[in-house]
Amino acid sequence: MHKVLLVFGTRPEAIKMAPLVRELLRYPEQFQTRVCVTAQHRAMLDQVLSFFEITPDYDLNLMTPDQDLNGLTASVVTAMKPVLEDFKPDFVMVQGDTTTTFAAALAAFYLGIKVCHVEAGLRTNNKLAPFPEEVNRRITSVIADYHFAPTESARENLLRENIPADRILVTGNTVVDALLWALEKVETADDPDIDLLKKLTSGDQKIVLVTGHRRENFGDGFENICQALKEIARDENVRIIYPVHLNPRVQTMVHERLSGMPNIHLLAPLSYPAFIWLMKRSYMILTDSGGIQEEAPSIGKPVLVMREATERREAMDSGNVLLVGTDSDKIISACHDLLHDPGLYGRMSKKHNPYGNGEASGLIVQFLKNVTGDE
Ligand code: UD1
Ligand code: UDP
Repeated sequence: MHKVLLVFGTRPEAIKMAPLVRELLRYPEQFQTRVCVTAQHRAMLDQVLSFFEITPDYDLNLMTPDQDLNGLTASVVTAMKPVLEDFKPDFVMVQGDTTTTFAAALAAFYLGIKVCHVEAGLRTNNKLAPFPEEVNRRITSVIADYHFAPTESARENLLRENIPADRILVTGNTVVDALLWALEKVETADDPDIDLLKKLTSGDQKIVLVTGHRRENFGDGFENICQALKEIARDENVRIIYPVHLNPRVQTMVHERLSGMPNIHLLAPLSYPAFIWLMKRSYMILTDSGGIQEEAPSIGKPVLVMREATERREAMDSGNVLLVGTDSDKIISACHDLLHDPGLYGRMSKKHNPYGNGEASGLIVQFLKNVTGDE
C-alpha cells in the first residue's frame, strides 16, 4: 500500500490533477490517496473542485489578494509541514510549474518524502519567460524522484539535465484525460455559465475567444494585446469573448482598456465545462495560457499564442498553434489571416493532439503501482 498525497493550488493544476485523483481512487487496496489544496487560487480552484466532485482532505486556504511570490512561497513551504507530518505520505505528487508546485515539492524533500512530478520536462530555456514558471519547473525537476513527461521532447529535455532515464515516463498530458471526461459532461451539463454563453453566441458572428494572464506580459504586453483586440473588434463579423482572470492586475488592465467596447465581452472566469463549451463554439482562440494550447488541438480550433516563447512546440509543429508574440500588428495580421484565408484556417483546425489521447493518468498510476520508493 502506497500513501499518496496530491498537492495543487491553482485552476490549471486542479484540472490536470483531477483525472489522477479519480484514477488513484479506483485502487483503494494499493493506494491510500489524499488531496491537499494550498488554495493559491480560491474561486478559480473551487470552480474546478466542484465540477470534478473533489473534496480536499487538507485545505490550506493560502490565497491573499494580490499576493506576492515571496510571501506565497514562504507560506506554502511552512503550511505543508504539518500536513506532511500528519499523513506521512510515501509520495507527494505535484503538477506543472506554479509556486505551489515547487514549494510543495521542496517541503516534501525537506522531510525526506519522495516527489512525483506530473507534466515534467517543459522548457523554454529562458528563465524570464514564462516568469517565474520556467524556474519553478526546473527547481521541481531537481527535487523530483519520478518525472511524468507529457511528450518525447519533454523527456529529452530531462535527459539533457542528467535525470536518469528509468525515472522518466512519457505519458501524454493529463489535461487531455480531463478534457475527454468533461466533453461528455458538457453535452448535458446544467450550468448557468453555458446558458449565458448560448445567448452571447446566438448570432452568426465569428467568435474569437481570448484569455491572458501571464506576468511577463504585464505592462507593454497587455497594452499591445488590448490595442490589438480593439482593432480586431472593429470587424462587425467578429465577436470577442474574454473571460478575465481574477488576478487584480489583469482585471484592472483589461477592464480599464476594454470595458464598454462594442463587440468585446469581458466575463468573469468561466466554469471549466462552460469554457470547453465556448472553445467548441469558437472560431479561433487568442491566448497566453499553457493549458489552452494543449486542449485546443483535441477540439480542432486554431490558436494564436500571445507570448514571445513557448515550451509547447509540439502543437506548433503539428500546425494547430502559431506563436504571434505580443506585438499588436502581428496579432492583428495573424487574426486577419485566419478570419479570411480558408486554406490556412483548415490547416490549423485539424483535430490531432500531440499532447496525448486521454491515457496519461492510467499510465502514471500503473507506473506507481510498481514503484517501491527504494529506487
Ligand atoms: C498562477 C500561476 C501561473 C498559472 C496561473 C493559472 C504562479 C507564480 N503563477 O498565476 O503559473 O499559469 O496561476 O491561472 O504560481 N485571484 C483571486 N481568485 C482566484 C485566483 C486568483 O482573487 O481564484 C487573485 C488574487 O488576488 C491572487 C492573484 O489573483 O493574489 C494572483 O494569483 P497567483 O496564483 O499568485 O498568480 P496567477 O497570476 O493567478
Ligand atoms: N479555463 C477555465 N475557465 C476559464 C478559462 C480557462 O476553466 O474562464 C481552463 C482552461 O480550459 C484550461 C485552464 O483553465 O484548462 C487554463 O488555465 P490558465 O489559463 O489559468 O493557466 P495556464 O494553463 O496558463 O497555466
